[in-house]
Amino acid sequence: MVGFPITSVREIKVLKLCDHQNVVKLVEIVRGRGNSVYLVFEFVQHDLHKILVESKELTVFNILQLKYILRQILEGCAYLHKKEIIHRDIKAANILINNQGIVKLADFGLAREVRRQEPLTTRLVTRWYRAPEISLQEKYYSFQSDVWSVGCVFAEMVAREPLFNSRTDHEHFAVIIGQLEGQNAPLPKDEDWPKFSAMYDKVYSEEMPKPNLPEKLNRGGLQHFFDKIEKNPA
Ligand SMILES: Nc1ncnc2c1ncn2[C@@H]1O[C@H](COP(=O)(O)OP(=O)(O)O)[C@@H](O)[C@H]1O
Ligand SMILES: [Mg+2]
Repeated sequence: MVGFPITSVREIKVLKLCDHQNVVKLVEIVRGRGNSVYLVFEFVQHDLHKILVESKELTVFNILQLKYILRQILEGCAYLHKKEIIHRDIKAANILINNQGIVKLADFGLAREVRRQEPLTTRLVTRWYRAPEISLQEKYYSFQSDVWSVGCVFAEMVAREPLFNSRTDHEHFAVIIGQLEGQNAPLPKDEDWPKFSAMYDKVYSEEMPKPNLPEKLNRGGLQHFFDKIEKNPA
């Protein structure tokens, strides 16, 4: 169709490939006037963001529920990855949950199939859930970046606040490092991540200096998360 955005073509293509309990089902595609197209999905009553943020006081997950939700998110992700699909926008608002507690991954607007190693755009994935390699402009990232996002969502389910809460793209990587330094974790070594120093120096060059880490970052997020896990190791 003329003028039909490539992202919508990708979204439909990806959704048509999927048939899994933990991936939202595309029921129908309806053509509207002009070039407009409506995607009709199975109805899912809740999304995780609304549960975590808007019903904060009402919904407290116990450890079994946390595990059950995490397991389903991972099952959905594993299914996508087996089909060579990267979701690229895993976050609480794109994780739907029905009244039976069944999780459905949704919003495939940024998803795409990757059959071979090819450069991918780094201008996506909602910032707080963005993997460090994408923040450092690595174009050859892959399925692992979704797994990073799942980890961020899980931490948010436990701590009830975003794990890597940054205000700008530039700050994001520094926030991650700030949290890890709070855990006495060193910066990655070149033998563990060969491109690391080059990418880090390029992104945080002289024109764009390394951001100062606010003091509170070292005491917040991860520590808070680990404290909660320690209190309830199940
Ligand atoms: N199948 C569905 N059933 C019910 N609500 C949905 C469904 N899909 C999406 N939503 C709701 O609409 C919101 C936006 O949908 P989404 O597909 O993520 O589009 P967007 O690209 O606007 O983020 C979701 O966060 C969720 O609250
Ligand atoms: Mg969305």
